[in-house]
Amino acid sequence: MKLLVCGGAGFIGSNFVRQRVTDHGDQVVVLDALTYAGRPENLEGLGVTLVHGEIQNAEKVAEAIGDGVDAIVNFAAETHVDRSISGPDAFVETNVRGSLVLLEAAREREVKRYVQISTDEVYGSIEEGSFTEESPIVPSSPYSASKAGGDLLVQSYLHTYGLETVIARGSNNYGPYQYPEKLIPLMVLNALHDDKLPVYGDGLNVRNWLYVEDFGRGISHILAHGVAGEVYNVGGPDESTNIEVVKGILKHTGKDESLIEYVTDRPGHDRRYSLGSEKVRALGWSAQVRFEEGLEKTVAWYRDNAAWWEPIRSGEFREYYERHYGRALG
Ligand SMILES: NC(=O)c1ccc[n+]([C@@H]2O[C@H](COP(=O)([O-])OP(=O)(O)OC[C@H]3O[C@@H](n4cnc5c(N)ncnc54)[C@H](O)[C@@H]3O)[C@@H](O)[C@H]2O)c1
Repeated sequence: MKLLVCGGAGFIGSNFVRQRVTDHGDQVVVLDALTYAGRPENLEGLGVTLVHGEIQNAEKVAEAIGDGVDAIVNFAAETHVDRSISGPDAFVETNVRGSLVLLEAAREREVKRYVQISTDEVYGSIEEGSFTEESPIVPSSPYSASKAGGDLLVQSYLHTYGLETVIARGSNNYGPYQYPEKLIPLMVLNALHDDKLPVYGDGLNVRNWLYVEDFGRGISHILAHGVAGEVYNVGGPDESTNIEVVKGILKHTGKDESLIEYVTDRPGHDRRYSLGSEKVRALGWSAQVRFEEGLEKTVAWYRDNAAWWEPIRSGEFREYYERHYGRALG
């Protein structure tokens, strides 16, 4: 299959591209703006074509489609909730307008399949039970609102133009190649450096953790078997509070719980996310990696891949961290 993967140099996108090349033998073109979160190193050795450009740029999208692709899978997005609170514009630009430009290109070029990668955050927070694909869309941050906007455009292209679109909504992903602003890699690297581990609020926010390779396999199932116009939730097998996650990381890195530091909560911080995944299970998918095992593998990957994160911890991320947490990284 010839695939255009937008945002394929980021965390989930690059893990997905690796699976498609190794397990499916696909020919892959990646279109990526290479923002702070996108890195060509993530695609090293995979033999993919990388087109450097934004999904909002119709000319770049045309260049990436070239003489045609069988499907477009769109991961490209601004993804960090904290950054969306301090600067929402870029989120609307990429997550909404970028999706529109891609959809237009897919329609014009009669691309057979368009898969939009979305998030459980579009449903907002849930105290008990789990969200289904029929749950109302109630986003609470500029990040999740912009993702919801992108999703609505995607659905309109099926109804208005007959473009074969499907949406995959994942729960919180973790695993190798995740930029260290996100909870798990942030805490792993801080623990390895004996830096304080900044936990928002009371640390009791619950997330439904999904190992990145399981999400990739779910997306492949949806790409192959998903019904056009449908949304598929892809949730992880386990839920865990942030403080349990942090304590697990301290255990796997052999560090002391005195490194934990509670900090002022993020505004509008959703309390709990939980996704029901019956629909994607009916397509033959199930999560293979339990949280305990995936967390241990993830800690080991960061421990063994300093060459990947050292340039990040000494660059833009360092300034962002100081601005955001009011203290320097060690
Ligand atoms: N991380 C999660 O837990 C999670 C969970 C569910 C869904 N998602 C969704 O999965 C997708 C990928 O998330 P991620 O965690 O890998 O994010 P990421 O921030 O690691 O990667 C995003 C990628 O998109 C690229 N990008 C950003 N703006 C772009 C633009 N305008 N044009 C082209 N490329 C651009 C970046 O360079 C980067 O390579 C996103 O759509 C996100 O909403 C993420």
